[in-house]
Amino acid sequence: MEPIVLSNSLIKHKLAILRDKRTGTKEFREIIGEIASLLCYKALENAELQKTEIETPICKTEVEKLDENKYVFVPILRAGTGMLDGLIKVIPNAKIGHIGLYRNEKTLKPVKYYYKMPSNIQDREVIVLDPMLATGGSAIDAISMLKEDGAKKIKFLSIISAPEGIKKLSEVHPDVQLYTACIDKSLNDVGYIVPGLGDAGDRIFGTK
Ligand code: PRP
Ligand code: URA
Repeated sequence: MEPIVLSNSLIKHKLAILRDKRTGTKEFREIIGEIASLLCYKALENAELQKTEIETPICKTEVEKLDENKYVFVPILRAGTGMLDGLIKVIPNAKIGHIGLYRNEKTLKPVKYYYKMPSNIQDREVIVLDPMLATGGSAIDAISMLKEDGAKKIKFLSIISAPEGIKKLSEVHPDVQLYTACIDKSLNDVGYIVPGLGDAGDRIFGTK
């Protein structure tokens, strides 16, 4: 599946601030949340709606609403949690699952350390969050775990994606739509996205 890229001048402006190494933790975290909200709007632009009747201050009328409870947001720890605030702001009643993965610095292979999902994952729409899609290993393993658990409808939201990760993800999980704010040039020899923004987890949590 081809990635859907949120190409927009304001997002480019926000990405410029994220990429700048002088940007501090507070602003970095806020912008990650803002872009995550916008990715969520895009990912749900054709979501199924239910008709219901309400009363405006003027009259009764039929409106269309999402079933918020059917959505599960799944941040990949740690950096994915930086996107969570932005999604909860727009769909506050969604359920939240967590997948703990970190990349082994030498092999670049993801190592699992946590997995917790809400019930009935097979009946829900799952939106996986991670700001960085680099080699694709973490995204692929997280999605495989969700599928083993029964998840059928999965979307993946990232802020910056590398062509290498996009290719691998679409080969292994062709049914999963990727929404990203940007596709960068490549990976460097230690698996970082170029030009990228550095280590997303460290910049969100101020750990370096
Ligand atoms: C980063 C990022 C992704 C992963 C992407 O996490 O948040 O999860 O790397 O790389 P990949 O596509 O090559 O798998 P990291 O392992 O640094 O853990 P952290 O979020 O705890 O900092
Ligand atoms: N993880 C990050 O946080 N940044 C990268 O550039 C690649 C993986």
